[in-house]
Amino acid sequence: MSIHLCRVPAAAVIPLGGELRAVYAAAFSRPPWGESAAQCDDFLVRLRDQVGRPGFRCVVARATDDGTVCGFVLGGIASRTAAEPLWTPRLDAVVGPEVVEGCLRDRFELLELAVTPPCQRRGIGGSLLDAVLAGLPCECAWLVTRQDAVAARRLYARRGWLDMAVVQFPGHAEPRVIMASPSRSAGWPDVVTPTRSPARWRRRVGECPGSSG
Ligand SMILES: CC(C)(COP(=O)(O)OP(=O)(O)OC[C@H]1O[C@@H](n2cnc3c(N)ncnc32)[C@H](O)[C@@H]1OP(=O)(O)O)[C@@H](O)C(=O)NCCC(=O)NCCS
Repeated sequence: MSIHLCRVPAAAVIPLGGELRAVYAAAFSRPPWGESAAQCDDFLVRLRDQVGRPGFRCVVARATDDGTVCGFVLGGIASRTAAEPLWTPRLDAVVGPEVVEGCLRDRFELLELAVTPPCQRRGIGGSLLDAVLAGLPCECAWLVTRQDAVAARRLYARRGWLDMAVVQFPGHAEPRVIMASPSRSAGWPDVVTPTRSPARWRRRVGECPGSSG
């Protein structure tokens, strides 16, 4: 199957919600995520806030023959002025406000990435990730994922993303990992204790010039 990627402007993302939810449900209802139909509906609720993020980006992968959406990626700046993102209130509690303010706020947060199972392992997820990050003012980006999300974590790791912290969110049985994209500063330990190492975080994640709008 031939695939093409296209950027979707924020205003056109909500009308695409049904198609994105279908991809999301196909990808996230399977292990390790095992999300229920109600959790997949929550994706649509989140989406309404996410499209309002400063610097919001959406890239979809479509089958060239019939236009079916088989993957997508969303991201945006974790700005103070944005509608409250999924993790930030909880991140305050688990990594501390200094790390949130110094390392995560005003950086590009990779919000969602999904590829339908029949289309997985063909390079689409990696291409979506590359496309959504292309042309950012700097390479700094971060995300939160499950520690046991092997496919996703390997995809990011192969592109140089590092585990910055393993965190346990209240109400979630499984640990999450905060990962940061490659930056120009090298030599970071695989895992840091962020509440004790905000300066390291700042160096590792880096400033993202012009990202605060
Ligand atoms: C993660 C996901 C988007 C990857 O999409 P994909 O199109 O299969 O990814 P790619 O084909 O570009 O794979 C890139 C690399 O990721 C890793 N990878 C992907 N699927 C993998 C799997 N099932 N097991 C192990 N590694 C895997 C591999 O390193 C792969 O490179 P390789 O094939 O050269 O070894 C897809 O598996 C998915 O939708 N998963 C469920 C939702 C999810 O976890 N989203 C991310 C949340 S942060």
